[in-house]
Amino acid sequence: MSATAAAPGSDLRSGFIEEWFLPRPPRPRPLPVPRPQWRTFLQLRRNALASWGEPAYRELVIAGPFLGRLSLLLNEPGAIRHVLVDNAEAYGRSASTLRILHPMIGDGLFLAEGEAWRRQRRVVAPAFAPRQLGLLAAIAAKRTERALDRLAREGRSVVDLLAFFQHLTLEIAGEALFSCSLEPFSARLRALLQRYGEGLARPSFLDLLLPAGWTTPAELARRRFARSWFALLEEIVATRRARGIEDPPRDLFDALALACDPETGRGFSSKELVEQFATLLIAGHETTALALFWSAYLLALACEVQEVAAAEARAQNLVGEAAPRAALPVVRAVVQEALRLYPPAFAIVREARAPDEVAGHRLAPGDLVVIAPWVLHRHRKLWDEPERFDPRRFLPGAPAIDRFAYLPFGAGPRVCIGAQFALIEATTVLAVLLARYQLRLAGPKRVLPVAVVTTHPDRRLPFRLVPR
Ligand code: HEM
Repeated sequence: MSATAAAPGSDLRSGFIEEWFLPRPPRPRPLPVPRPQWRTFLQLRRNALASWGEPAYRELVIAGPFLGRLSLLLNEPGAIRHVLVDNAEAYGRSASTLRILHPMIGDGLFLAEGEAWRRQRRVVAPAFAPRQLGLLAAIAAKRTERALDRLAREGRSVVDLLAFFQHLTLEIAGEALFSCSLEPFSARLRALLQRYGEGLARPSFLDLLLPAGWTTPAELARRRFARSWFALLEEIVATRRARGIEDPPRDLFDALALACDPETGRGFSSKELVEQFATLLIAGHETTALALFWSAYLLALACEVQEVAAAEARAQNLVGEAAPRAALPVVRAVVQEALRLYPPAFAIVREARAPDEVAGHRLAPGDLVVIAPWVLHRHRKLWDEPERFDPRRFLPGAPAIDRFAYLPFGAGPRVCIGAQFALIEATTVLAVLLARYQLRLAGPKRVLPVAVVTTHPDRRLPFRLVPR
């Protein structure tokens, strides 16, 4: 079939696809089961994705001891719903999650609990309402065009697409959420984030062993790091503040700066404002950059799918105010399938705060529940050919997917506040890129996902951008 003759979307669903190559991308080999616990710890430091053995991909619940506590890996949609939605208040973030993320995002929305969390969520949520997201596609399209023009001017055809997406999503988050350019800060921001991800973000044995409130040696090093990290964020926030706060708010920054809780009459302190800024910046750009990277990788392996997605993108007007109205079901399905195979948030971990019973197991406070999108999305009982890249699963008209079998953004009260933001942004960026360039791998095809805080590639992967 000629790629250019493809009618977007419809051909992807039609029988033609039977002749197409839909790859099963490589994945890390799971550790053997049974194994001594020290091998699991080592693996959690190196790459958590290999720490789940083969049975995790066929059993609905796996229970076992973890450093004197019970740990449940849940793949059963009903049990997942119980923990994330029905009895969500009986759970909180684990001590190791707090240890690793607190130095980066403080007590912002991601880590806050109880009344502090409810108050923050009330203030932040309006900025992510559908009405507010109307402008996002236009901003994402404009920023992508501009970044691609820069590459073209520099005459670069071989590109590190992950680095490209990381800078681009940072710029888009800066403009869409805070009406400011992060360009002058992005090199320093990215360098610090990379330093943290390569070392301090890896959990130590004591990080996993000790309950919250105990200080581990790794935490001391993280606190030193946090000083330079928050100094940079304070500088960015001060620069943005100097441009003035508008009432009514024009963006999320204004809303945060003006936020005054009607119930308590209290606003955010300067420290809280910086921590909220850090939370949204980190949660809001690295994950989306990874979703884009894995989408591009999968499309480079599946050339026919890439051509159908590109034809769809080229048939739409992605410029200016028309961008939000672009119909991109295939490109969006590619992003959703990339989020299934390579969920950037590979595990959602909860620590029981109160006794509970889940899938026939009694949990005491301190016990752990792990819901791992990485495992869940590749589970043999929940997915047909789970290892295969097949974006048709997400096209309109495809069989419905169980809400609790596909959790790239979590579920329940702590569901990702930026889920729609991320999907709109990633779909638009990918569409603009595909409309202009064919994506090919410029080196060896094999790349393995590695999970430390997020699911990233095990090496830099050069792509060749061939003009269409
Ligand atoms: C592909 C991109 C993204 C992925 C895969 C992702 C994934 C997730 C997941 C799984 C959670 C729930 C964690 C849990 O329940 O423990 C979460 C929460 C959160 N996400 Fe995202 N996210 C993405 C993009 C974004 C964006 C664009 C923003 C903001 C601009 C954002 C901000 C947040 C915040 C603030 C929370 C905490 C919400 C709360 O606890 O109330 N995320 N994200």
